[in-house]
Amino acid sequence: MIASVEKIALPGLRDRTVLITGASRGIGRAVAELFARCGAAVAVNGRDSTEVHQFAANLSEQHGVRAFPAVADVTDIAAVREMFAQLQNWSGNRLDVLVCCAGYPLVEELWRMPLHEMREAEIEQWFRQVRAVDLDGNRLCSHHALKIMVPQRRGTLIFVSSTPALSGYHGTPYTEAKAALLGLMRDLALEYGKYGIRVNAVAPGNIASGWYHQLSESQKQELAREAPLQRWGQPEEVAGVILFLASDLAGFITGQTIVVDGGKVRR
Ligand SMILES: NC(=O)c1ccc[n+]([C@@H]2O[C@H](COP(=O)([O-])OP(=O)(O)OC[C@H]3O[C@@H](n4cnc5c(N)ncnc54)[C@H](OP(=O)(O)O)[C@@H]3O)[C@@H](O)[C@H]2O)c1
Repeated sequence: MIASVEKIALPGLRDRTVLITGASRGIGRAVAELFARCGAAVAVNGRDSTEVHQFAANLSEQHGVRAFPAVADVTDIAAVREMFAQLQNWSGNRLDVLVCCAGYPLVEELWRMPLHEMREAEIEQWFRQVRAVDLDGNRLCSHHALKIMVPQRRGTLIFVSSTPALSGYHGTPYTEAKAALLGLMRDLALEYGKYGIRVNAVAPGNIASGWYHQLSESQKQELAREAPLQRWGQPEEVAGVILFLASDLAGFITGQTIVVDGGKVRR
């Protein structure tokens, strides 16, 4: 675990401008905290305006950094356009890092309903809803981020995928969207490397955030046993890898997926 208060020094993060989508809770919130501890200027996204404003104010106060409340639903094209316009205004038209954490909530139906048992209307509904956040939202934010990063000739995008994208895990809409996200990541890495822009992904396993809080104690114990390390990961353990990927330590890494799952998926 990473101690929670000290400053962190990683090359290339201090004074960088970072936008984190889905930063109001869970992994995204931990990512925002770690970037703030590195001295980065952080823009935190979420849909609840009060929550996002409060979080940005806390980051600023606790870490002495600039923090911007970037309120938008990432599935809303006009809202995302407006969020980026405000961000550019705040940052002086600069963006060094985009971390895409926003994800559709992991409700029970996503995991346990086999494709052939879904009604056609349900297929359309579930696949579209998950894809809208986990794939389309990331693509839309990447579009705006790249428009800023290409003229800068530098920048990095980091997507939060998931181990089902690599190995499958019941929930077809989730698996499909998270796997497609890795395709997007590889294409963008290929296309934008010539501009000095790196694009990578993390694939977390069972992390104690989001869906974790809806599970019974016995479900938590059963899922902990899926990993050789026999426990749930903490949001900070995913955030630490994201921080590394954004830093200059990872300057020659692009087009890659780093698995953060206690050894469940071994490649
Ligand atoms: N926890 C795990 O075990 C695990 C494993 C692998 C991958 N992941 C992925 O990691 C990411 C974060 O998950 P988490 O566990 O930290 O979940 P979480 O605690 O439920 O947080 C999800 C975040 O996404 C935001 N969000 C959801 N829909 C959004 C939208 N349409 N527009 C903007 N923001 C939106 C939420 O903000 P609001 O306040 O607006 O709802 C919240 O900040 C997700 O992409 C998830 O799929 C999680």
